[in-house]
Amino acid sequence: MMTISNKIIQQIEKLRAEINEHNYRYHVLDAPIIQDSEFDQLFKQLKKLEEDYPDLIQADSPTQRVGATPLREFHQVKHEKPMLSLENAFSAEEVVAFDHRIRERLEINKAIEYLCEPKLDGLAVTLLYEKGKLKYAATRGDGETGEDITDNIRTLKMVPLQIRGKKYPQRLEVRGEVFMPKAEFIEFNRLALQNQEKQFVNPRNAAAGSVRQLDPRMTAKRPLEIYFYSIGIFSGVDFPLTQNELLSQLSEWGFRVNPYRTVSQNITECLAYYDKIQKVRSHLPYEIDGVVYKVNSIRDQTELGFITRRPRWAIAHKFPSEEVVTIIEAVEFQVGRTGALTPVARLQPVFVHGVTISNATLHNMQEITRKDIHIGDKVLIRRAGDVIPEVVSVVLEERSAKIIPIQLPKKCPICYSLVEQDPEQAIARCTGGLICEAQRKEAIKHFASRRAMDIEGLGDKLIEQLVDKKIIHTVADLYFLKLASLINLERMAEKSAQNILEAIEKSKKTTLPRFLYALGIREVGEATAKQLAYYFTDLEVLYKATIDDLQQVSDVGPIVAKHIVAFFQEKHNRAVIEKIIAAGVHWEKIEKTETNRPLAGKTFVLTGTLMSMTRDQLKEKLENLGAKVAGSVSNKTSYVVVGDQPGSKLNQAQKLNIEILNEASLLNLLNKK
Ligand code: IVH
Repeated sequence: MMTISNKIIQQIEKLRAEINEHNYRYHVLDAPIIQDSEFDQLFKQLKKLEEDYPDLIQADSPTQRVGATPLREFHQVKHEKPMLSLENAFSAEEVVAFDHRIRERLEINKAIEYLCEPKLDGLAVTLLYEKGKLKYAATRGDGETGEDITDNIRTLKMVPLQIRGKKYPQRLEVRGEVFMPKAEFIEFNRLALQNQEKQFVNPRNAAAGSVRQLDPRMTAKRPLEIYFYSIGIFSGVDFPLTQNELLSQLSEWGFRVNPYRTVSQNITECLAYYDKIQKVRSHLPYEIDGVVYKVNSIRDQTELGFITRRPRWAIAHKFPSEEVVTIIEAVEFQVGRTGALTPVARLQPVFVHGVTISNATLHNMQEITRKDIHIGDKVLIRRAGDVIPEVVSVVLEERSAKIIPIQLPKKCPICYSLVEQDPEQAIARCTGGLICEAQRKEAIKHFASRRAMDIEGLGDKLIEQLVDKKIIHTVADLYFLKLASLINLERMAEKSAQNILEAIEKSKKTTLPRFLYALGIREVGEATAKQLAYYFTDLEVLYKATIDDLQQVSDVGPIVAKHIVAFFQEKHNRAVIEKIIAAGVHWEKIEKTETNRPLAGKTFVLTGTLMSMTRDQLKEKLENLGAKVAGSVSNKTSYVVVGDQPGSKLNQAQKLNIEILNEASLLNLLNKK
């Protein structure tokens, strides 16, 4: 065995220390002392030595930032200390009121010192260091639990893998914001457009999307940056006395903090800081949506404490969203996954915050009428942080004579099925649910799902591949799938392909309620599908049902009835159904007798766990007997079924004097029926 000389070990350690130091100077201090090319040389030397002596590679070596194994999913991380959000202020008055509240609470008459910082518009993350080494990184999530994104965060060169210096907390949790600078965002989208890949709406989404990549090699390619602004766990050394000292300390430990921070002596200075930052905002290389004021004294912070999810000692003073004027050149209708048609205005491009805006959502036809928007109108556009730009209002004084009204198309721009406008919900939808390309994937996923046709093994990913590769176009095509086209797909062995074909074959024997549910008619859930099946008993009868006929079914109101009629009137949908039936999908005929439905008119509510069956099984049983199963207890409830460890529904049932069934009495009742 070759022994590794001390000299090599020392050489490697020296190189690592040097590289870390230059990284720190470059990223954190923004004051490099060597050329990029010299840095690259050092890095190459280290890489070469590590290649020659792989036993000496360590996880915190600067060469080891990018892991090569993608994750299957993110693990959940429960935050030891919750990740908080901030109270928002939109006016100077609200900020002054905040300062008053603080002084009142602290019973202080003199001015309070605040640490002021820009409020970054990115993604909040938390990093835990133990004994100086990065242990894990996580997203904020809901504030209590986030996702483990360690492998991705390690790829950011400005994140230290090891805390700098000798004296640092045993356990230190640093929190900050990951973001994509504006220029990099624009370049990223330009390339994405060129390569026909997905573009991001704004830098914030780009940062979030990049951090949430399962493959760290992808994240490593994204130009992400970070600023740290607070801490969570902190143990083992004395806590700094002020927020400002804390930030200086973080910076010494190697964490990048925002250079625009400042200490204001009083709230008036805070407001001046706000004005100053607002002026430089458009020149900053990254997006901010306001500034944050934090009570500077840590002792005061501790005394002030928290309200639910927010500290009492901090507030975000938000910038008003930016508005610009431009012209609507055209309006197009986009069809979403659920068939909803959204009007989108094509605008004469305008520049806001370094981003060119050429589209704005018009939401729906009602909004267009309400705001009186026409093609050719001069309009005020608002872009507020994370939302898609929207049209605020028309500049009526400058309306041209050549404006054109915006009309909802009669047919879907994708599949040419009829468009149905729902007067109450303001939403227009394509009725070609079974054939529309925009809705195809979702329709097939729903069709195959467990409670619908229950095709085992036909998961979302597989459906996406089948549609993307144009192997299937509608749900009917599933029944004509061939082994050869399945085994050509990624990660598909012959055995699993065979299993899928068998599951498809098995699904041909189904029930009418399942089949109706599987069609994915709007607002026709499982319960309604069952009611429809038992009422009409035959598909041919249902085809011919009018809105009035349909409303005879309990659960079906005028809106649902309209959706059903529209669905069956669409001849494309009928063609798909006929093709499915021709392929051999069948069900047992439903006999229309009341004895089939002994529990018709009864409503059950379930709480707690049963020994003899799952909730879903019980639900199916009850519904097959004609009963309705509701989610909450009300005067209309007939029985509450109580299993082990029941919830508050039991109390409600007792309060409302509703009959309670335990498992034994439930089984008894079911057996009698
Ligand atoms: S301090 C206890 N400082 O804003 C303090 N937050 O709206 C918690 N944010 O979740 C946050 N820049 O993601 C703080 N300089 C800054 C910030 C900042 C951006 C984000 C952060 C937080 C959200 C709250």
